[in-house]
Amino acid sequence: MTKIDISKPVEIPDWLSVARRPTIIGEGHLERQFEEIADEVRAAVEAVLPTGKYTLGPHLAQFESEFAAYCDSRFCIGISSGTAALHLALEALGVGPGDEVITVSNTYVATAFAASYTGADVVFVDVDPQTYNMTAELAAQKITPRTKALIPVHLYGHPVDMDPLMELAKQHNLWVLEDASHAHGAKYKGRRAGSLGHIAAFSFYPAKNMGAYGDGGAITTSDPELDQKVRMLRYVGQRVKFVHEVIGFQERLDELQAAILSVKLKRLDEWNNRRRRWAAIYDEMLKDTPLVLPHVADYAHHVYYSYAALVPSENERLELMTFLADRGIGTFAMYPTLVPLQGAYAHLGYREADFPVSAPYARRVLNLPMFETLREDEVRRTAEAILAFYDRANC
Ligand SMILES: Cc1ncc(COP(=O)(O)O)c(C=O)c1O
Repeated sequence: MTKIDISKPVEIPDWLSVARRPTIIGEGHLERQFEEIADEVRAAVEAVLPTGKYTLGPHLAQFESEFAAYCDSRFCIGISSGTAALHLALEALGVGPGDEVITVSNTYVATAFAASYTGADVVFVDVDPQTYNMTAELAAQKITPRTKALIPVHLYGHPVDMDPLMELAKQHNLWVLEDASHAHGAKYKGRRAGSLGHIAAFSFYPAKNMGAYGDGGAITTSDPELDQKVRMLRYVGQRVKFVHEVIGFQERLDELQAAILSVKLKRLDEWNNRRRRWAAIYDEMLKDTPLVLPHVADYAHHVYYSYAALVPSENERLELMTFLADRGIGTFAMYPTLVPLQGAYAHLGYREADFPVSAPYARRVLNLPMFETLREDEVRRTAEAILAFYDRANC
């Protein structure tokens, strides 16, 4: 049972107060996206509403087959959120109490929570100093006889170096669950995220590279047995109506979201290419600043869910964020506190020193505006404002 103590107030960090200020660049991107596809989205919704079939119907089946094909996977199963997708994937893999699941320190908390929901113990590893992703070397150091699965996260849309990780998993008989929540359309050595591990989880949270109009998620796999198990788990443990063979969950992606996602899937490559264009402009314009810009490995097709730069120090991050917010430019810090250092995992006793790469990264990371609906002049204005910040500092 979780003990919840709400007697102490929670402090709002300085960077978040700045990030919450109203902005011009960085707000309204989902509204703009809707304008771009409004007619098709309305038609998709209209197609579902009169059918009387709102769950597990033809629109979900169609989206699942389209997204599976897009991800170079045999199967896709629509799930109600990315968090539930991670959880059900682990349940399907048979992860449970007594097992250990290895994941990275610098991810969204749901990656780890999903493992905790199964009753397994989460073991956190530090990351590669260039890509900020899991490496086989670091994961290998944490493998014990209890290790059952690895969850690499394709952070910000840059794929993990998967070949060595899959080799490690083979040696130790481990499952690999990709957290592809940032990586719709990303490729590793030409292969899509979602097809690289044994099973993968996607989030369709609205702000993702491909998002629903509400919560949504999916699991992809090419393993027919895992496909069948996930389908049972997402629909109260049944294969046949009212025959509940295991304790399952109620975690389906609904028909409306599936129909809308089919519309968005047609745009995904074009939208990702726009993100890549904005990233190239940031790369070029900011290359002589003190910021450490994102590294792209030669095996990677990066889809820039986020464009994350490292500022030399935490204080300078706050100053730069404030300077940009004063000019109507919204930035963010993602993720500002490592998951193992969150209160939820305080009992595990991790310290910053356990994460020599990701701990300083969390204090310095700055996420610049990055949406497919940005305009080129907005990207350039953002980069120019950063150049002005550093010109001013040099005066
Ligand atoms: C890396 C990562 N994993 C998992 C999730 C959870 O997805 P959802 O919000 O759809 O539950 C997210 C969502 O932000 C994420 O960024």
